[in-house]
Amino acid sequence: MGRREPVGWVLLLALGLCCAQGGRRRNVLLILADDGGFESGAYNNSAITTPHLDALARRSIVFRNAFTSVSSCSPSRASLLTGLPQHQNGMYGLHQDVHHFNSFDRVQSLPLLLGRAGVRTGIIGKKHVGPEAVYPFDFAHTEENDSILQVGRNITRMKLLVRKFLQTQDDRPFFLYVAFHDPHRCGHSQPQYGAFCEKFGNGESGMGWIPDWTPQTYNPQDVQVPYFVPDTPAARADLAAQYTTIGRMDQGIGLVLQELRGAGVLNDTLVIFTSDNGVPFPSGRTNLYWPGAAEPLLVSSPEHPQRWGQVSEAYVSLLDLTPTVLDWFSIPYPHYAIFGSKTVQLTGRSLLPALEAESLWTTVFGSQSHHEVTMSYPMRSVQHQDFRLVHNLHFRLPFPIDQDFYVSPTFQDLLNRTVAGQPTGWYKDLHRYYYRERWELYDRSRDPHETQNLAADPRYAQVLELLQTQLAKWQWDTHDPWVCAPDGVLEEKLSPQCRPLHNEL
Ligand SMILES: *[C@@H]1O[C@H](CO)[C@@H](O)[C@H](O)[C@H]1NC(C)=O
Ligand SMILES: *[C@@H]1O[C@H](CO)[C@@H](O)[C@H](O)[C@H]1NC(C)=O
Ligand SMILES: *[C@@H]1O[C@H](CO)[C@@H](O)[C@H](O)[C@H]1NC(C)=O
Ligand SMILES: *[C@@H]1O[C@H](CO)[C@@H](O)[C@H](O)[C@H]1NC(C)=O
Ligand SMILES: *[C@@H]1O[C@H](CO)[C@@H](O)[C@H](O)[C@H]1NC(C)=O
Repeated sequence: MGRREPVGWVLLLALGLCCAQGGRRRNVLLILADDGGFESGAYNNSAITTPHLDALARRSIVFRNAFTSVSSCSPSRASLLTGLPQHQNGMYGLHQDVHHFNSFDRVQSLPLLLGRAGVRTGIIGKKHVGPEAVYPFDFAHTEENDSILQVGRNITRMKLLVRKFLQTQDDRPFFLYVAFHDPHRCGHSQPQYGAFCEKFGNGESGMGWIPDWTPQTYNPQDVQVPYFVPDTPAARADLAAQYTTIGRMDQGIGLVLQELRGAGVLNDTLVIFTSDNGVPFPSGRTNLYWPGAAEPLLVSSPEHPQRWGQVSEAYVSLLDLTPTVLDWFSIPYPHYAIFGSKTVQLTGRSLLPALEAESLWTTVFGSQSHHEVTMSYPMRSVQHQDFRLVHNLHFRLPFPIDQDFYVSPTFQDLLNRTVAGQPTGWYKDLHRYYYRERWELYDRSRDPHETQNLAADPRYAQVLELLQTQLAKWQWDTHDPWVCAPDGVLEEKLSPQCRPLHNEL
């Protein structure tokens, strides 16, 4: 896709941006899971029952190779809503009070651009990005002014909020962002409801009741244990709890879609379903390995039934969603500067061409700096077809563990077994998990579990160099302050701009 040139807003409005050719009305519904993965029938998990996601997949193109650029909640949401990686939009880590990360004041986010262009915006559920002026929504029911359990997990409440949004008299097209808090862990914040809040609203004593939810419970013996999760009773029980909350989200998705159908707008709406980052298990969330970065992605366009139910192999990024939504509304991509005169350019691409025909996209990038404020562990990555290169900038530090994952039964069990010298049932050991090499190169076609680092293998020297070059180019293109690290310092007024540190790296 060629870059679009800026067009005056007046001209744009005169062109009637709300509608595609032929005067068709166009809206967007973006549904986000919180730490969701591939636990759905749509992604061939036969141990879980997800009829609503499966039905949506039958009316969607299903991406098999979709990736987040960052495996952390606020950074991922900020990247998704700006089209800029975390190192460029400024959301280096979690946004909540004590950590206080924010995007830069001059960032132009999707809700800001859509609002200016005459699209009505709404958010229901988890926001977790700021500042408010950068992420303004016309209609907002989030953790900022309500209980996250109510707006993010109580699917009856969420259904009623969607109804309220749709009933408002307003002629503008809409962008509605429904961000579930399911299936996020809960043991760190509300342990009374279970490891994944799977008991919240299930009607048992003290748990309250969610009228529209029929809880599905799973026997730990029946779950599918992914290769990166230890096969132990503790981890199986954890997965069974996770499945129950995915079931609640699945039923919630059914309710949300039913509200749109009932309001007569579903057939005018591009529906996108994805998740912010990998599942909260080892090698998942906070990692840029495949389990931390790969995401489910369903894109359902009422105007493109020819690809419904098909699986796409194209490599796509959540950085592509901002360009996709702008393209759907025929709004030009923004050109602006955050600092000085360096112009920001979206490096993602619109996914709309993939709705017409299979696209041969091959490469996606990743960038992570923090999760919690104490968890500085900058990593940059590139996935080029089956090859994944991860650059661990601070590889001499132990990999950090977040508070939420630390208290999880899976990780506690792993720690206990390791300390006691018992078999862990895991594909790695803690030493290897904590202490990583600077460059990690994996060939998923031969080694799908990413266990053999090929970075030092002379047979892969050319691949390594190609990927390093691609990654460096992307870091320069996106104004990455870490571009010279860890063996150099960025000096923008000198040439070359990376100056050597002679620090033995
Ligand atoms: C699910 O399995 C079928 C049959 O093997 C395959 O054709 C399809 O591509 C798979 N779907 C995904 C999303 O991987
Ligand atoms: C949250 O803000 C919205 C306005 O965006 C308002 O309608 C709603 O009542 C607020 N919710 C609470 C619980 O204050
Ligand atoms: C969920 O929301 C509905 C509607 O607001 C309410 O009646 C119900 O008590 C809530 N359930 C819980 C567990 O809070
Ligand atoms: C939905 O929209 C498509 C594409 O414009 C159209 O062909 C189809 O008839 C519509 N379906 C319904 C049920 O209105
Ligand atoms: C791990 O060991 C601690 C201390 O003995 C114990 O309290 C805890 O229940 C164990 N956790 C798991 C998941 O095995």
